[in-house]
Amino acid sequence: MRIRVLGSSAGGGFPQWNCNCSNCKGLRNGSIRAHARTQSSIAVSATGEDWLLVNASPDILKQIAQTPELQPARAVRDSGIAAVLLMDAQIDHVTGLLMLRERQTPLPLLATPEVFTDISDGFPITRILSHYCQVAPTELPIDGSTTAIPGLPGVEVQTVALASKPPPYSPFRGNPRPGDNIGLLLHNPASGAKAFYAPGLAAVTQELLEIMSGCTVVLVDGTFWTHDEMQREGLSKKAALDMGHLPQSGPGGMIEQLDKLPSGVRKILIHINNTNPMLVEDSAERAELVAHGIEVAFDGMDIAF
Ligand code: MLT
Ligand code: MN
Ligand code: ZN
Repeated sequence: MRIRVLGSSAGGGFPQWNCNCSNCKGLRNGSIRAHARTQSSIAVSATGEDWLLVNASPDILKQIAQTPELQPARAVRDSGIAAVLLMDAQIDHVTGLLMLRERQTPLPLLATPEVFTDISDGFPITRILSHYCQVAPTELPIDGSTTAIPGLPGVEVQTVALASKPPPYSPFRGNPRPGDNIGLLLHNPASGAKAFYAPGLAAVTQELLEIMSGCTVVLVDGTFWTHDEMQREGLSKKAALDMGHLPQSGPGGMIEQLDKLPSGVRKILIHINNTNPMLVEDSAERAELVAHGIEVAFDGMDIAF
């Protein structure tokens, strides 16, 4: 099984169009050692030909162009994207669905009932797509049961309800429900190996630590290094946890959580905000991650499990 990281950045991408934080400015003027990143998405395949797209980012057309495997060209109109699964209803995870409207058959779309509500109402993407290719919905259970992906034999998933937040446009922003945000356990039925993906994660519970301990690889929330990163740069009034993201550093932070996993688990941070100092490849923060055996995802990263 393969995971291809299509976009490793959080909402806004890196550099962000209107941002002049030290990272965005430094990347633009070449004064820092860092790489540009598109917005949050991965693709998963058992065959290398048909793929499950996990999240549809606003940058999807660029990501498809950068990933020849997603265009196997078996017919005059064709795509390697067989189905799309959504982790939440955030703008950076769903907007790309509109770019898939030229499909000639309904788009197989997997999400929780809570996410389907947000994208048919607050941001009515599925209603809009009903006038184009249409959507073939599959509701994802959050009771721990396994879901097979339509059109993708060999790919099986399990979801885990996570503590995080629905998007700012959701009527449930202030009143989160289980199912607004999920973590995804991907199974390789051939080898028995598992991978865990959670780009938005506000709390690492004991249950989650046990799930992650049983995985070959985990890709988890790498949005912010510090709790007050956006506030300190004067970019937002909100702290990391107000936005549903556990910061990496500090007591109880993601580094401390990942340190509890067995040494055989490959640990990767993903969904990285452009303000995060770990984006700078020769920074002290990056060196600290290396010392803890934690990797930083990049666009085009290929992970086998
Ligand atoms: C988030 O996960 O908090 C997002 O990246 C926000 C957004 O897309 O605006
Ligand atoms: Mn996001
Ligand atoms: Zn920035």
